[in-house]
Amino acid sequence: MSDGLENVVAAETVLSEVDGLAGRLIIRGRSLDDLAGRTRFEEAVRLLFEGFFDDLPYDLARPLGEARAEVFAEVEALDARLLTREPIEAVRALTARLADGDDLATALRLVAAPAVFAAAVVRARDGLPPVAPDAALGHSADILRMLRGRPADAAQAAALDTYLVTVCDHGLNASTFAARVAASTRAGLTSAVLAGISALKGPLHGGAPGPVIDMLDGIGTPQNARAWIEAALARGDRLMGFGHRVYRVRDPRAGALKGAVRRLTEGAGAAPGRLAFAEAVEAAALAILKERKPDRALDTNVEFYTALLLEALDFPPAAFTCVFAMGRVAGWIAHAREQLAGGRLIRPQSRYVGPEPLRAA
Ligand code: ACO
Repeated sequence: MSDGLENVVAAETVLSEVDGLAGRLIIRGRSLDDLAGRTRFEEAVRLLFEGFFDDLPYDLARPLGEARAEVFAEVEALDARLLTREPIEAVRALTARLADGDDLATALRLVAAPAVFAAAVVRARDGLPPVAPDAALGHSADILRMLRGRPADAAQAAALDTYLVTVCDHGLNASTFAARVAASTRAGLTSAVLAGISALKGPLHGGAPGPVIDMLDGIGTPQNARAWIEAALARGDRLMGFGHRVYRVRDPRAGALKGAVRRLTEGAGAAPGRLAFAEAVEAAALAILKERKPDRALDTNVEFYTALLLEALDFPPAAFTCVFAMGRVAGWIAHAREQLAGGRLIRPQSRYVGPEPLRAA
């Protein structure tokens, strides 16, 4: 038995490959370096959906915009009770209101859902009314507009596109596996996406970038980094944004996102000095992890620079996991369709190690 299914191959996929030794990510035959920063999110969705829907249009921008307008109707179900929950739980609850199905219209509504719902949830937590989608805008530009109530500039929309494309798919990660298991029962795409959201929200997976900001804020100055990190590790805490099940070198997505933060900072989108401070914390963390865990290659993962990028785009840390879901939802749906097309019911076995029934004397 493999603890945590490490090194177990549980599916064949044409969608993405994670090469943990080379630090390389391929999405449908394209390297991440080739895609990130050069591709709009709609194009990445199309790339992932290609071959899984018969009626897939060439340009998804308008149909996705119309799907945003459609799901916006569900925002009225966002009540005071839901607003007491974590944003990702509120987004999950609103997504659960969408009908199940396996067609392209369902898929596009599900891609639209985390974007529309998260923007409305963030605003409602600040006492602000929701902003209706503009179907004519690109997905990223509209997300930022729905979030802030004013248009985003091109650099900001491009930075969000870079983020969403960077995280749109990543092999058989925990949330994608959960989505494939749900899809394998033929429950429908909404069920698969809900399974994905539920697995994503944990701090060992998509819940890490919010706590990265807590760590940076707790450290405060570069000089304080070593002492703060050593105290955290002494308490038995894990450093958020470091370590990965598959990568034994730096996560290639970290570099793509750091580049996006730098471009945005140069365009005055982020607080000056924040990136340099984060780099100092990253260097200290890597040095200490190497000292403490010389046998385990622990390097920077996607979540570290995700935190900086989403902060620079005005997302509150409490909503970072929702933004991750906005991108990864495309991968969950493509994997669900792939599972349906060729896969059997996913049903592994467990080994019983409990007590035997008592024999009657
Ligand atoms: N900080 C401190 N120690 C760590 C870290 C970390 N970030 N990551 C791993 N370790 C240690 C573990 O404590 C363990 O030590 P031990 O053998 O003495 O118990 C050793 O390194 C191996 O760790 P595992 O738990 O076996 O690694 P696993 O592959 O199960 O976990 C994971 C990978 C969950 C990402 C882990 O590295 C972690 O918790 N990182 C912090 C959370 C995080 O950044 N999550 C986002 C991951 S990226 C993503 O999902 C999008």
